[in-house]
Amino acid sequence: MTAAPAPDVLAAFEEAKGFMPLDEGLALHGAALTAGRLGLPLLEVGTYCGRSTVLLADAARASGVTAVTVDHHRGSEEQQPGWDYHDPETVDPEVGLMDTLPAFRRTLYRAGLEEHVVAVVGRSPQVAGIWGTPLGLVFVDGGHTDEHATADYEGWAPHLAEGGLLVIHDVFPDPADEFTGQAPYRIYLRALASGAFTEVSAAGSLRVLRRTGAGV
Ligand SMILES: C[S@@+](CC[C@H](N)C(=O)[O-])C[C@H]1O[C@@H](n2cnc3c(N)ncnc32)[C@H](O)[C@@H]1O
Repeated sequence: MTAAPAPDVLAAFEEAKGFMPLDEGLALHGAALTAGRLGLPLLEVGTYCGRSTVLLADAARASGVTAVTVDHHRGSEEQQPGWDYHDPETVDPEVGLMDTLPAFRRTLYRAGLEEHVVAVVGRSPQVAGIWGTPLGLVFVDGGHTDEHATADYEGWAPHLAEGGLLVIHDVFPDPADEFTGQAPYRIYLRALASGAFTEVSAAGSLRVLRRTGAGV
């Protein structure tokens, strides 16, 4: 399915802070529309300020399903003060730590998509450990260390239904192209090597795989 996101959704996407270029966002949206046909929730790891979430939410609305997005909202390693991807505006001055939840809520409100999203504030492996519903799509865009990317894959891929889509962001096969490490590339390779996933498409650093067998 290739229907474009609604104009107000695209405007909210463009306005939101975040790390997803438009071509990858449209590929994510298209994958979410396809996955939405399974009638199961679409899950994102790595909400940040909601840039990618609004695209999943738009597809969820069109498909009559719910988008779930998980983040502790304290930022990844490379987003902390002193690192390349730090944005001082994301720091809560009262507690002195990053808090991207307020910006995320504003993004979702602007897009008019609040009722299509369940936002879970917590650590991805902890949430995955108590999760019990099959998913139509898992979008992995959380922490980019091997520890975090592996935990996201091992925590969420088992919940992906047969025919569901595993979407991985920041897959950089060439180390010269990457800025935040190659852990996403390694879980992409692991998914393919498992025999449980088949690659469907690629756009920039975004990879879309379909669950075609059991296991991880
Ligand atoms: C690259 S950003 C997500 C970008 C977002 N998808 C977008 O399109 O702009 C990664 C996010 O993952 C979150 N994160 C990192 N490790 C996490 C973990 N173990 N559990 C939950 N969230 C985590 C960070 O707080 C951060 O907001």
